[in-house]
Amino acid sequence: MSWMDLAVQMSPQLVAWRRHLHQYPELSFQEYRTQEYVMDALSSLGLKPQPLGQTGVVADIGEGPRGVAVRADIDALPLQEESSYEFRSQNAGVMHACGHDGHTAMLLGVAALLSNQGPHLPGRVRVMFQPAEEKIPGGARMLIEEGVLDNIDRVLGLHLSSDLPTGQVGTRVGPATANADQFTITIEGKGGHGAKPEQAVDPVVVAAELVLGLQSIVSRNITSRHAAVLTIGTLHSGSNFNIIASRATLTGTVRTFWMEDRQLIKSRMQTVVEHVCSAHGAVGTLNYLEGYPSVVNSPQETEMAGNVISRMLGQGALVHPEALMAGEDFAYYLQECPGTFLSLGCRNPGVGAQYPHHHPQFTLDEAALPTGTAILSAVALEFLTMTSPTP
Ligand code: NI
Repeated sequence: MSWMDLAVQMSPQLVAWRRHLHQYPELSFQEYRTQEYVMDALSSLGLKPQPLGQTGVVADIGEGPRGVAVRADIDALPLQEESSYEFRSQNAGVMHACGHDGHTAMLLGVAALLSNQGPHLPGRVRVMFQPAEEKIPGGARMLIEEGVLDNIDRVLGLHLSSDLPTGQVGTRVGPATANADQFTITIEGKGGHGAKPEQAVDPVVVAAELVLGLQSIVSRNITSRHAAVLTIGTLHSGSNFNIIASRATLTGTVRTFWMEDRQLIKSRMQTVVEHVCSAHGAVGTLNYLEGYPSVVNSPQETEMAGNVISRMLGQGALVHPEALMAGEDFAYYLQECPGTFLSLGCRNPGVGAQYPHHHPQFTLDEAALPTGTAILSAVALEFLTMTSPTP
């Protein structure tokens, strides 16, 4: 039987796992019940799961010098679900609104399919159930520090995508998600009476100039062939109409795909903040927090995954979506090992799956679950046949 047939046969179990997880979502680094559930499910498959990274789980299937790690993220979001499904969230204010319940169920499916292969596996497949993808600094780095990639040659993961219809799978060579950074700018002026600006340094005027000055960084410093975004999300200052405030605070985000663009924007921001503020007699401070780096898929592994997918699902199923401006901590695994991160279509208005990720009515088409399980299994095994990457 093909991987797809085996996974379809397993559909009721995949749906049951996903719905249980959906009912009991947990926030980043609080996934204790999820951890226990995953440990139990893996143990019942005859595997020896280990807790890792506080609330994560890892297990190895098969033996041999070569190893492929397949990852699912397991955390939910602080959001109140607005749906009437029987299996809707039972935890008030917490919801699996990004599809990580599906990711976890599919990886359990991979563990089930591959553990049935027993000694026939051409190497080791490590299933990694990672906590806290939704919250910077994320669980991936913690798992790596605890050794999750020891003796691993390649990494594989996927994200369900409401941008793609069920049945389609997306691959992309190179950057697939953005460097997703945050910043806070504080402008220290000098407060005073609204009628006597000559005695004050007005941070509101400085802030206004700064917003415009910062907007020219992307348009004037980044090559037009690269995408980048700088957004000021908040601007706070003042307490009354006739008072000149003493301070203004701005926060925002910077999204880039290339490390050199990220560094350039960061350093240009530093200069603009410092000099615009000092030109007005104010003091500006930039606090720039680097978020998840860009997911950069390796060419060889991504092409190989694409070939497996077209072979399994037909040529038309394979698509190459635009890179996303969102962040994803799978990036850290790819900084250590070659591999690829796939997009699995799960949009189907026929079953209510038409809302974007992070929406209170988000749901996924469960018909995508066997497809994801089959693809992850088949691509992982294909990776095991590749020679070791050159360091
Ligand atoms: Ni997500």
